[in-house]
Amino acid sequence: MVSIHDCPLSGSRLRAEAMRILATLPGYDWCGVYRLDDETLILDEYTGAPTEHTRIPIGRGVCGWAVEQDENQVVPDVRAVDNYLSCNEETRSEIVVLIRHQGKLLGQIDVDSHELATFGEDDERFLEEVARVLAERWPDE
Ligand code: SME
Repeated sequence: MVSIHDCPLSGSRLRAEAMRILATLPGYDWCGVYRLDDETLILDEYTGAPTEHTRIPIGRGVCGWAVEQDENQVVPDVRAVDNYLSCNEETRSEIVVLIRHQGKLLGQIDVDSHELATFGEDDERFLEEVARVLAERWPDE
C-alpha cells in the first residue's frame, strides 16, 4: 500500500497533495491547511470550494479558537457554534487539528463536511498523524 510516508514531496507541494488525498475520503468535503503567521492564520493549500476566510485572527472562528485554546476542535454541528466563520453554506460539521513541530505551533489542518457529526476520535488521531508528517517536511525544499 502506498502511504503518505512514501511520498517524496515536501513543503507546500506535500501539503497540496495531502489535502487532495484527504478530500477523496467520505465526508471530507473541504480540506485545507492554515499556516500560523504571528497572530494570524493564513490559508495555505486546500482542496474544495474557494473561501473568503483566507486570513483568520487568533480567537476568531473554530480555526482561531483552536489556536487560542491550543487544542484540536471537533464540531459535530457548526450551526450550534456562535464563534463560527462560514466558508460554505453546505458545511455542517468541522474538525481542526493543530500542526506542531518540536513544540512550535506551525498551523492546522481544517476539514469541513456537508454532513452532521462526520468527525470523531478516529479522524482526530488520523489527522494528527497527517499533521506530524506535514510538520516534519514543513519547509519548501
Ligand atoms: N469554519 C472555519 C473557517 C474556515 S472555513 O471552514 C474553510 C472557522 O470557523 O474558523
